[in-house]
Amino acid sequence: RQIAIFASGSGSNFQSLVDAVQSGTLKANIRLLVCDQPGAFVIHRAQTAGIPTFVFRAKDYENKQTFEQEILNELAHLGVDFIVLAGYMRLIGPTLLESFGGRIVNIHPSLLPSFPGKDAIGQAIEGGVKITGVTIHFVDAGMDTGEIIAQEIVRVTTGETRQSLQDKIQHVEHHLYPTTLNHLFLTTGH
Ligand code: GRF
Repeated sequence: RQIAIFASGSGSNFQSLVDAVQSGTLKANIRLLVCDQPGAFVIHRAQTAGIPTFVFRAKDYENKQTFEQEILNELAHLGVDFIVLAGYMRLIGPTLLESFGGRIVNIHPSLLPSFPGKDAIGQAIEGGVKITGVTIHFVDAGMDTGEIIAQEIVRVTTGETRQSLQDKIQHVEHHLYPTTLNHLFLTTGH
């Protein structure tokens, strides 16, 4: 399995996937990091791990189609057959969806369909829910709407802060993503 990881931020999930490949928990080759934020810490993580990067600024391109076409060329060149989103803060457009239909997954910090979009953790705190969690799902044209692959519960305790909830959710993410991807790759022809 040849994968590309797309990320925009700190990349703690990116790191957990790199570590899982190194330890043998995730049987895949991470061929490329795609990042739309030139200052993001995830780029540093990729460099440290010796993983090639494709870094771009959306505003340097005419539209989504033009930068996605360039990404697509890069993925084809490297033989990438699966896209893993890990904190990539953009909707995937038709150019990538048409070529990678059913072969793009995302991780989201809530129990979808609750709290889609940005700031799912803040929405959970605001909503006063006692249970939230993590969802791994296939990506379609919508915002966090694709078919659900796996979910895990995280309890919201009394006095929970945004930071403490985020820490609990990320802890779950860092084992759920590698194990779910490995299972998906073993059990499907994707
Ligand atoms: C994660 O919480 C993920 O669920 C969401 O974005 C966050 C990325 O965090 N889609 P990191 O950059 O992997 O640390």
